[in-house]
Amino acid sequence: MNIQKQMLEAIESELQKQVARLDQPRTKQFHEMLTYHMGWTGEGAGSEATGKRIRPLLVLLTTASCENEMKKSETIATPYWLCAKPAAAAIELVHNFSLVHDDIQDNSDKRRGRNTVWVNWGAPMAINVGDALFVIANQAILDLMEYQSADVVSKAASILNNSLLELTRGQFMDMSYEDRNDLSIDDYWPMVGGKTSALLSACTHIGALLGSASEDEQEAYRLFGWHLGLAFQVQDDILGIWGDEALIGKSTASDLVEGKNSLPILYGLGKHNKFAERWSQGPISMGEVKAVATLLEDEGAKNFAEETSKVETQKALEYLDQANPRGEAGKAIRQLANTLLTRKQ
Ligand code: IPE
Ligand code: IPE
Ligand code: MG
Ligand code: MG
Repeated sequence: MNIQKQMLEAIESELQKQVARLDQPRTKQFHEMLTYHMGWTGEGAGSEATGKRIRPLLVLLTTASCENEMKKSETIATPYWLCAKPAAAAIELVHNFSLVHDDIQDNSDKRRGRNTVWVNWGAPMAINVGDALFVIANQAILDLMEYQSADVVSKAASILNNSLLELTRGQFMDMSYEDRNDLSIDDYWPMVGGKTSALLSACTHIGALLGSASEDEQEAYRLFGWHLGLAFQVQDDILGIWGDEALIGKSTASDLVEGKNSLPILYGLGKHNKFAERWSQGPISMGEVKAVATLLEDEGAKNFAEETSKVETQKALEYLDQANPRGEAGKAIRQLANTLLTRKQ
């Protein structure tokens, strides 16, 4: 079995173990709401419904690619990357918490090809589901104590919590931008840095910390995750308008209808042409989505976003070179970064 497959299996079982904290007789249905969102139960459950699990994979691949000979001889878990499992699960849980809340905030009815939690159980209950995922994530990261010193565990928890503060700031910017028409591409980067890159950089930073990488290597891994996150969100923006709904499992109309200031849209606004004129006239209706997406593409927005995603991926790969990832995991992490650029889902 290749390393990525082994890791994905380990991630799934650690996630199930963590979420089982909620599995108690009086609140069975609450536990089911969480297992539904995680993709394990309910209609359409299965590998398509779990999401890609990119973040926990990045944590484990980073830890494994540090491959410290010294660490190997002190191995307390075999293979060594298993000791990073609680952190990988914690990050995937906070990611899922942010998605449950994000779908309420964005009024999105589909996620991973299925109804969103708020569609099934209502927004008040979905808020509670998100809260539970958040709390369990905080419990999960403390399980690192089984393998790591208290000092390392508190550093990992602090990296995660700082990234979550950035994430909520990013979400604030994303939502507050919906009512503004004075924005440019310069306003885009702090927003996506917060909502997406902060957590992706926490993955590679924590992964490197747990792999006992040097301070310089940790910094290079952190910056790799940061730029990968920027490229990843730009790609999400492209798919959010021109993607295949069946593959991405989310609506491709919502960014235009919700008035999201994603990168292609900000580019189009900067052109001061037909797209910008239409945008200034008020909300886009469902019926207009296709025509507006074509207009935006004709004005060069898709091309621009694709180029931008390439540039950020390139920067990410340069930092990855500096981090000097080793072994099979090192190869896999490079491959993952490249695949994300051409992803369709
Ligand atoms: C979606 O992230 C939210 C963004 C930050 C773009 P993913 O595309 O990683 O979502 P899943 O977990 O695979 O569904
Ligand atoms: C998601 O951003 C970021 C977080 C949930 C923190 P988006 O709203 O752009 O992502 P999707 O397209 O709904 O997955
Ligand atoms: Mg959003
Ligand atoms: Mg959204």
